[in-house]
Amino acid sequence: MNILVIGSGGREHTICWKLAKSPLVDKVICAPGNAGIALDFECQNIGVEDFDKLANCAISNNCELTVVGPEVPLCGGITDYFYDKGLKVFGPTKAAAELEGSKTFAKNFMNKYNIPTAQSADFSNQKDAEEYIKQQFANCAKGVVVKADGLAAGKGVFVTSEESVALSAVADCFKGSFGQAGYNVLIEELLIGEEVSILALCDGKSIQALASSQDHKRLEDGDLGPNTGGMGAYSPAPVADDELMRIVQKEVLDNFLLGIQKENLDFKGIIYAGIMVTETGIKVLEFNVRFGDPETQAVLMRMKSDLCDAMLKTAEGKLSEVKLEWLDETAVCVVMASGGYPQSYKKGYAISGLKEAEKNGAVVFHAGTKLSGKDIVNIGGRVLGVTAKGADINSAIEKVYSAVNEITWEDVFYRKDIAYKALDRLKNKKEK
Ligand code: AMP
Ligand code: GLY
Repeated sequence: MNILVIGSGGREHTICWKLAKSPLVDKVICAPGNAGIALDFECQNIGVEDFDKLANCAISNNCELTVVGPEVPLCGGITDYFYDKGLKVFGPTKAAAELEGSKTFAKNFMNKYNIPTAQSADFSNQKDAEEYIKQQFANCAKGVVVKADGLAAGKGVFVTSEESVALSAVADCFKGSFGQAGYNVLIEELLIGEEVSILALCDGKSIQALASSQDHKRLEDGDLGPNTGGMGAYSPAPVADDELMRIVQKEVLDNFLLGIQKENLDFKGIIYAGIMVTETGIKVLEFNVRFGDPETQAVLMRMKSDLCDAMLKTAEGKLSEVKLEWLDETAVCVVMASGGYPQSYKKGYAISGLKEAEKNGAVVFHAGTKLSGKDIVNIGGRVLGVTAKGADINSAIEKVYSAVNEITWEDVFYRKDIAYKALDRLKNKKEK
């Protein structure tokens, strides 16, 4: 069968790579893709919001399934558009995608269906938001989190223990720094703990978790610096042991399924719960209605099962026939970024060492790359997701960084401590 994958990031490169391993798949087409995806797959230069051209592409290429990678087309209603044309899609409808598109919608959903989450209040008026923040600090809050209510491309969330920073974040939102998203803000209690990403397939009738993973959201080593789209990931996350996964299934996934059924939300795709494991239990920080990036790189590298079969059955409402299986290995993904990201950065530098990096079995998934003459050059903030697996976390780290060391371009930047938290956790466990 032929499959259309929509998107241009490392996540989509990984999805194409994994789909192509399925005996069910004849051809993978990606729109718009990137330089790395184009090395192995047909790419069509169609933007992710051009629903008409994308649907025509799926029809003219006899694509039995379309997989939507990013949140923007999902929140814009691409699934509804494709359904109207009788096309099969892996991805939730517009109404269901609100779970990512609006933080207040997601928060109300979590509260209604008993999904544990941080306490919060939402405001469409700057003065009220400021008053609330002052009140929180007067009541000795450890800090607050200010969130612009809408898609803000990974920006628009301010975690702070300082009242003045929280107040200026609110002012920023209402000034229009995040477009429409900022005219409604959510203010949450500050949670302390370790984060874990749990992705699950859901077809509206059943829900099944994928292997756990952990992202590295901050730019710099030691979880310092500004938030980014994600600087690296590993799977499995030792913090998500069997007991924690049982709790996540019961408190988050089962309640999520019940909630979408009760609310009549048509959800056939991936639900991603960003979870904080605190001393007093788990709390959901956010829902995303798509695969995570770079979590997908690490998770799919460990997937034994046929991704095409799993996605097709999910899209057809037959997920209960799927039993996902995972390699008993660890996978680590290191994101290589353009120097200056997440602020401005220079583009167009030739990247060297891409072939050499894959010699030891690592895979280089492309994100912000483009072919320019004979060179592959950087055109985005996050450029590559170098991913490797090993028998244990140590060997996966060693392998991934030896691959990373082969690659360079001017101003390249990456974290040197991806997955070290997993290593520490395992060391501490042994010492106990
Ligand atoms: P979100 O887009 O809502 O997931 O927020 C982005 C990042 O901000 C999360 O991955 C966390 O690292 C952090 N964050 C969000 N909400 C909270 C919270 N209530 N307490 C502490 N950190 C948070
Ligand atoms: N890695 C975070 C995300 O995909 O939203």
